[in-house]
Amino acid sequence: MKFFADTAEIADIRDLAATGLLDGVTTNPSLIAKSGRDFMEVTREICGIVDGPVSAEVVALDHEGMMREAEVLRKIADNVCIKVPLTIDGLKTCKALTSDGTMVNVTLCFSASQALLAAKAGATFISPFVGRHDDNGFDGMQLIADIRLIYDNYDFATEILVASVRHGIHVLEAAKIGADVMTAPPAVIKGLVKHVLTDKGIEGFMADWAKTGQSIG
Ligand code: E4P
Repeated sequence: MKFFADTAEIADIRDLAATGLLDGVTTNPSLIAKSGRDFMEVTREICGIVDGPVSAEVVALDHEGMMREAEVLRKIADNVCIKVPLTIDGLKTCKALTSDGTMVNVTLCFSASQALLAAKAGATFISPFVGRHDDNGFDGMQLIADIRLIYDNYDFATEILVASVRHGIHVLEAAKIGADVMTAPPAVIKGLVKHVLTDKGIEGFMADWAKTGQSIG
């Protein structure tokens, strides 16, 4: 499963990229606002750090406006992936852009039927929001399982990008279902490394090593 960081914070992206864990980045208008940075500038910087897809979201709601914005955004770098909302205009834009070889991430997906439409429109990625789905009394992981089933039934190439990930269990369940990608805040990705027995093991080894009085090198 590929790991994308759901952030526009450069320091976090650099830090994760250095671990070799990072396959891409997703941003959205809220994350750009939180960063306090200029959209174009920060997107260009992220594209220079990460080789994989960097999702940059259009803010126009009509097809023509989305196409105009996508034209500007895709000039930033070759690894820009245009993010469009799951609306009829978004799907039209998805079809037009992917037919032209541009990567498209269809975002704000909350049903398997919506995911089917995005795949038919040729989406590179579909982003079902599991956390927000859970928050509203639905089962986010069941949504991922349903989309996986449908995409496999018809051999769709669209990659399932599990979004709105809130904790490690979301990541684990997404991997068990066979989602292609997950995007999570850096803290969630880093949290995956934590295990109380790892910490306890290190503590024990350090204590025993100190007793030897030796050093390495
Ligand atoms: C995905 O691309 C979105 O940026 C993101 O995962 C939304 O997550 P949130 O529900 O935590 O805002």
